Amino acid sequence: MRYDHFEITGYTVLSDSVSEEHTILLLGDLHEAVYGPDNRILTDACRKICPDLILCSGDMITAGDSLRTDISLNLYKKLAETAPVFASFGNHETKLRHTPEILRDYLSALRKIGVQMLRNKSASLTIGADRFRITGLELRPVKYKKLRVPKLSASELEEQIGKCRGDAFEILLAHNPVFASQYMDWGADLIVSGHYHGGLMRFGKHGSLVSPYFRPLPPYGYGMYERGGSVMIVTSGLGEHTVPLRINNPTEIVTISLKPREK
Ligand SMILES: [Fe+2]
Repeated sequence: MRYDHFEITGYTVLSDSVSEEHTILLLGDLHEAVYGPDNRILTDACRKICPDLILCSGDMITAGDSLRTDISLNLYKKLAETAPVFASFGNHETKLRHTPEILRDYLSALRKIGVQMLRNKSASLTIGADRFRITGLELRPVKYKKLRVPKLSASELEEQIGKCRGDAFEILLAHNPVFASQYMDWGADLIVSGHYHGGLMRFGKHGSLVSPYFRPLPPYGYGMYERGGSVMIVTSGLGEHTVPLRINNPTEIVTISLKPREK
């Protein structure tokens, strides 16, 4: 799908776990969308933001007969030239298990580009004076089954990604926001999700019409949410598939201005 415009949505997150300001860029649900020749409108905008860290929350491809990996790989390459890139699988990357050779080649290409694809694992990095630990959750396919909203226990989550250590600024890349409460209970400082594509139609600050489970007005459908010490940001993403409809629900990239909380 070809586009020529997206929004740049900005949030400010205050934290006791950082001592200086950092700019984090979040992209999700590209679904092989293209913004201008060679995706230049998108990559130029990302570069101009000068992020310290880039997060990609999954579904950068669209699995199926028309799958192409070159669009997301080209984008990832440009992003990796801009800042360190950490990514997680969405349900569409998970579907590549049906084509193991394509999956292997995709992962190998990502490694060569320098993207850290976190499949139920964590990575650490230091930016300036602050330490970050980034964990990518790869949910089992059953958690994406339509119509029935699934469950995820705390022990199941810990079995997959281990415990939240809390000795750094903890970021959780979790494609599917349906388990928002469990992610917050896990203890992440910042959770980033997508998957719902803004729920086709958006209204108000958080309102979105429908989730991929066909659940009307789903909680955690779009925007920024805070509970306890956790902040969760759900992006409407950059592309579509299945239902190419967006009403009052533009595609977007997200900038997160992470600042130390004043004491
Ligand atoms: Fe998805």
